Amino acid sequence: IITVRELADILKVPPNQVMAELLKRGILATINQTIPAEVAVSIAEGMGFLAEIKSVEEKIDQEEEEEPSENLQPRPPVVVVMGHVDHGKTTLLDAVRKTNVAEREKGGITQHIGASVVELPDGRKITFLDTPGHEAFISLRARGAQVTDIAVLVVAADDGVMPQTVEAINHARAFNVPIIVAVNKIDKPGADPQRVRRELSELGLIPEEWGGDTIFVDVSAKTGQNIDQLLEYILLLADLLELKADPTKRAKGTIIESKLDKQKGVVATVLVQEGTLYVGDIFVAGTTYGRVRAMTDDKGRRLKSAGPSTPVEVLGFEDLPMAGDTFKVVPDEKTARQIAEARRLQKEQLEKVSRGLALEEVFKKIQ
Ligand code: GTP
Ligand code: MG
Repeated sequence: IITVRELADILKVPPNQVMAELLKRGILATINQTIPAEVAVSIAEGMGFLAEIKSVEEKIDQEEEEEPSENLQPRPPVVVVMGHVDHGKTTLLDAVRKTNVAEREKGGITQHIGASVVELPDGRKITFLDTPGHEAFISLRARGAQVTDIAVLVVAADDGVMPQTVEAINHARAFNVPIIVAVNKIDKPGADPQRVRRELSELGLIPEEWGGDTIFVDVSAKTGQNIDQLLEYILLLADLLELKADPTKRAKGTIIESKLDKQKGVVATVLVQEGTLYVGDIFVAGTTYGRVRAMTDDKGRRLKSAGPSTPVEVLGFEDLPMAGDTFKVVPDEKTARQIAEARRLQKEQLEKVSRGLALEEVFKKIQ
């Protein structure tokens, strides 16, 4: 629901033009009167607004498509850690971070931004999503966001395959993400890593050493044993996947998480997936937009730019974006505002329709 004045504001036309359009549809409305969303959308469409916006967005996308990716360069893999409750996902992420040179040198504490970058002594990097594995798939992937390249499946060697282990495998398979198995807790007396291999083989994850194509690494997140080996295997798989991106393009990515901070305002973690994001860039994210006022990395360091596979905390959003929203840099603020407003209007229309449908269902049941 929207008032005549609001619609006129969005369309950037005088209110009486909207009133004239309403009259054509047999609706006599005053400036502060609300009009149904579908009428608003129909008017917007009638004025060529949505069509124009769509074409604006399509034109930008086409330009991007036509811009040849001549500068494809290897990018770090984006990894999600999944597994059954208490099998050691969080402890494993902690162990992985301890191998991080930057952090070891500075003795700093990783601030929580939903993703962290681990840098090995030779400079190679891996981006880990800190969002619990299932959420990373359900909330991010369900919304069409393709964010992860590799899934690390943690299975406790003293517990074996459990219901959420199977669930995790199904998620990874549904989204076609290759799995590396980390057989965890091998320091424990009751640990039986071979049993984990047998159980997972039955589910189709056959270890390489048995002639299959799944990498298994026996680790202890607690003692740190073989964590470096796990990281090596992740990078090996990343090489095989030939993960590449063009850092010279305008940035594109996905919102990993967002929150409203009392001091800073809207704060969102963006995973840059294509191109390079710069301070000052104007962007659209879901139904909102903004300009990058400041960027910090997962270690809390100020950045001027962020390339592919880099998670960054971004300030400068007009409104709160949602996890899973796409993020893209556009040429100017007018374009950003137009795309965001058109998307908002379309979303409103969709919500209205779905509410209408839900009501219809209720009526059917009463009758
Ligand atoms: P949820 O987030 O609740 O699903 O659990 P999680 O998978 O993150 O497990 P978490 O890392 O919290 O570990 C659960 C328990 O197992 C903790 O008490 C850890 O200290 C312990 N643990 C994790 N890894 C190891 C390991 O390699 N060896 C031993 N002995 N204990 C471990
Ligand atoms: Mg945990």
